[in-house]
Formats: sequence, C-alpha cells, structure tokens
Amino acid sequence: MQRQTLFCQEKVLAYNHIWFFFKMTVSKPAALETLRAHGIHGPIGTAIVLGTGLGPLADEAQNAIAVPFSALPGFPHSGVSGHAARLVVGTVAGLRVAMLQGRAHYYERGDPRAMAVPLETLAALGVHTLVLTNACGGLREDWPPGSLVALNDHINYSGMDPLIGVTADTRFVSMTNAYDPRLRARMLQAAQIAGVKLQEGVYMWFSGPSFETPAEIRMARVLGADLVGMSTVPEVILARHLGLRVAAVSLVTNFGAGMHGSSPSHGETKEVAARGGEALKALIREFLRTTNDA
Ligand code: HPA
Repeated sequence: MQRQTLFCQEKVLAYNHIWFFFKMTVSKPAALETLRAHGIHGPIGTAIVLGTGLGPLADEAQNAIAVPFSALPGFPHSGVSGHAARLVVGTVAGLRVAMLQGRAHYYERGDPRAMAVPLETLAALGVHTLVLTNACGGLREDWPPGSLVALNDHINYSGMDPLIGVTADTRFVSMTNAYDPRLRARMLQAAQIAGVKLQEGVYMWFSGPSFETPAEIRMARVLGADLVGMSTVPEVILARHLGLRVAAVSLVTNFGAGMHGSSPSHGETKEVAARGGEALKALIREFLRTTNDA
C-alpha cells in the first residue's frame, strides 16, 4: 500500500516535470508568434504588471495593440474580478511599453510558476525592466489606505518558490537587491516630480486567497514587514531568474486585519485601488517619461 502511494507520488512529480518543460519549450515561442501576428514586435524595453484596479493605465496608451491572455499560449486565464487579462503594447508618456492588465496569482491554481510564460515572453521581446504594481494591506499606522510604497525587499512567507523544479544552477538566484536600487531611486525622483508621496518598505507574501488573521498581521509586523499581499513575490523571483531589473510599487488599500478593527475584503481592495489608482498612474507616467530606453 505504502509502495503504491510512493509510486503515485513519483508519477505525479514526473507528470509535473513533463508539464513544466512542455510549457517552457512550447508556450513562449507560440505566444511570441501570436504577438507578431497581432503586429507586436520587439524590442520593447519596459513592461508593467498592472494589479487590482490599476488596469486603466493601459487604456491611456497611444497606438495601442491589445491581445487577450486567452489568445496567448501559456498565459493565465485569470479569474479574479478587477483584472482584464490582456497584454497591451502602446506608448505611455512617450515610451513604448508592454502592459499586463492583470496577473495570475498562486492562490488560483496553486502554481507558483503561473506568471512564468508571460515573463519569459516579455524577456524575449527585449524587456529588461519590469515594473510590478499591486494592491496590498498596510501594517504601518502612519501609512493609511491610499498610501504608495516602493518595495525595497520582501519576506516570502508562502514557503513556495517558482524556481522549484528548475534543474540548472541558474536556479540559485541571489535575492539581494532584487528590487533594483537605481530603479527605486528613479521611482522616488519621479514621485517628487509628480507631487506624489512615496514610502519605501518590505512586502510579505501570504499565499491567500483568504486574508490574514489579526494574529498573522501582528506576527508580520514583528517579523519586519510593512505590507502584506498575495502577489508580486513569485514574479520578482521569476524576473530575477530571467535577469530583469525590477521595481515594484504597492498601493495600500486597507490596514492589515485587526488593525483599527480592519476586516479586509476584495470589494474594499477594488474600490480603494480604483480611487487611489490616480496617484499611482501619475507616478508611473512620470517614471516612464524619464526612462531612456536607448
Ligand atoms: N492582505 C493581503 N492582500 C491584500 C490585502 C490584505 O490586507 N489588501 C489588498 N490585498
């Protein structure tokens, strides 16, 4: 009986590996082919992942070409409301950028590699700079909902890693300065020019989809986190593995559970993200204006 169980587990692992390499080798070229068929060609130097409620930035892109994720092999079919699930390439603040309107989360299917193919595809288009945005819970009393925070580090509390299963030594990615200090400095400068207040802080990744308990929020604060959320960290790890430089900005949509009696909800996240999105859009616009892709 025990031997049978072990055999089953080995089979599951083997299938996982086959699926993993199938997705890696087949999806990226197929996605690139589809993008070419839509008239999207590289090089594109900068890409942005637009989190919950922040998607409208893509709507102001000029000469935009939008391709639904559903047309792109290996791209996620995101089921989270508040995410449009499209890749949009267009010009924002004078710079041609690729924007992912929505992302897949680990909690949707339990797959930490959910964003692997989209990021590999962007890298193949020439992307070297990835800007990640998200909505998150805030743990600092002096950062109320609506605050913007440039991430300077993270704590991976999920125990998951998207590089599990990669066999080459490239899997041992350094996570020191994973959030590029020079990009962060430019983001802070852009905030000043745009007249937007931007904090710096540490993001702690919880798997979700349930929100944290008040006890977990107290723990997160003790451990040195400033923010909690259910995304971004696997993308940062994947991006660093691909050699991309990363900047990440969080929009605080609520205090962490239990703080000031807070009991976060997805409705609240979407509503506050939509309202607070204007400042984030102004910040990203200014960041792009000063990006020299030459
Ligand atoms: N916790 C986790 N993820 C979130 C939160 C939160 O409080 N708010 C928005 N996304």
